[in-house]
Amino acid sequence: MSDYLTRTNHLLARIDALATISEDATGATVTRRFGTPAFVRGRALVQGWFEAAGLTTRLDGIGNLRGRLASRRPGAKTFVLASHIDTVVNAGKYDGPLGVLMGLNLVESIIQQGIELPFDLELMAFSDEEGVRFHTTYLGSKVVTGAFEPTLLQKTDADGITLAQALAGMGGDAAALATDALPAAEWLGYFELHIEQGPVLWESGVPVALVTAIAGQQRVELTWQGMAGHAGTVPMPMRQDALAAAAEFVLAAEAFALAHGRGLVATVGQLRIPYSASNVIPGQAIHSLDLRSPDAGQLAAAYADLRTQAEAIAARRGLGLDWQLVQYTAPVACDPELNRLLGRAIAASGYEVEGLVSGAGHDAVPASAVAPATMAFIRCYKGISHNPLENVEAADVAAALAVAERFLLELKDKYA
Ligand code: GLV
Ligand code: MN
Ligand code: MN
Repeated sequence: MSDYLTRTNHLLARIDALATISEDATGATVTRRFGTPAFVRGRALVQGWFEAAGLTTRLDGIGNLRGRLASRRPGAKTFVLASHIDTVVNAGKYDGPLGVLMGLNLVESIIQQGIELPFDLELMAFSDEEGVRFHTTYLGSKVVTGAFEPTLLQKTDADGITLAQALAGMGGDAAALATDALPAAEWLGYFELHIEQGPVLWESGVPVALVTAIAGQQRVELTWQGMAGHAGTVPMPMRQDALAAAAEFVLAAEAFALAHGRGLVATVGQLRIPYSASNVIPGQAIHSLDLRSPDAGQLAAAYADLRTQAEAIAARRGLGLDWQLVQYTAPVACDPELNRLLGRAIAASGYEVEGLVSGAGHDAVPASAVAPATMAFIRCYKGISHNPLENVEAADVAAALAVAERFLLELKDKYA
């Protein structure tokens, strides 16, 4: 068995151990949303591994776990190796933790081999990339990159708990957020390993690829205000059914994205009907809209068009509509120079060099505003993600580990 495969089996065992820590007490599903007791327990497990490797660790104000391997070089800048350890609800095991634990494995190897780096290496396990609890993504990496807006502290979760309260409850520190940012002048670069979460590598049979760009996204919350009423007595033409209006919009959004080619995707993933009952006409329906494209112009045009369609549906059905933009993230391009080095590492490891555009959001998005940033994608089973069926082949992870190690050595030479 190759050395990389042995190392991979070790890190995959850690991923399995982390996956047993879940908000779901039965352990049947993996759910570790930002700031929950399960998240805090999972982070403590990972922190123990960081420390055992010889990293100096700390938890910052937003709950990121940060481990530092200091360079002997005076005034060295910082290269960040990162991913996230929060999950969606009923998640897979690999989205996020794979990047963190591959990063840790690389750091362990650097320490064991006594390699001296000309930069400080900071390994980060971000606390919130998914944005499922407060409906806004990248809370962890926004703090590290100095992009965190203090108004976010007032955002509430489904139980009415504000982000500020959640931080207090998890031992975070809202007052420290501004000083938790790595100053722009200290950044050297950013690299993240992540499963592809889509089917391209599965279909092409390539184990690892570089990422050329990450799609922009807009998250919207729509509230349809109709009139609750008796399901047996109100004649059909006289109803103001909020759910029927929402349903019409969901299908309109799907048709719109289908008609606009591969780049644009539109998803309604969350729907709530307050006071719902089988014998009550829905008076209110609240749902999400997640709209993505790698093309900023296409994203803006889709946003405007779907808003107009929603307003037309509300007007025709005699309903009120509240359209709230929850998040906008512009598409970003990954750094060409880092990608040149990553491509070289992929080719030198014996693999075809393939470049992918990521439809999924990643912490590399905020990072790219302050530093050269890129990512490597690892093939995952049938491209399935945000699903308990998410899986990877050990041989693919071993291939990506070999590529990433070469890439770090390329960086060492570049900044020597
Ligand atoms: C995170 O996985 C996202 O792309 O929403
Ligand atoms: Mn992820
Ligand atoms: Mn995810």
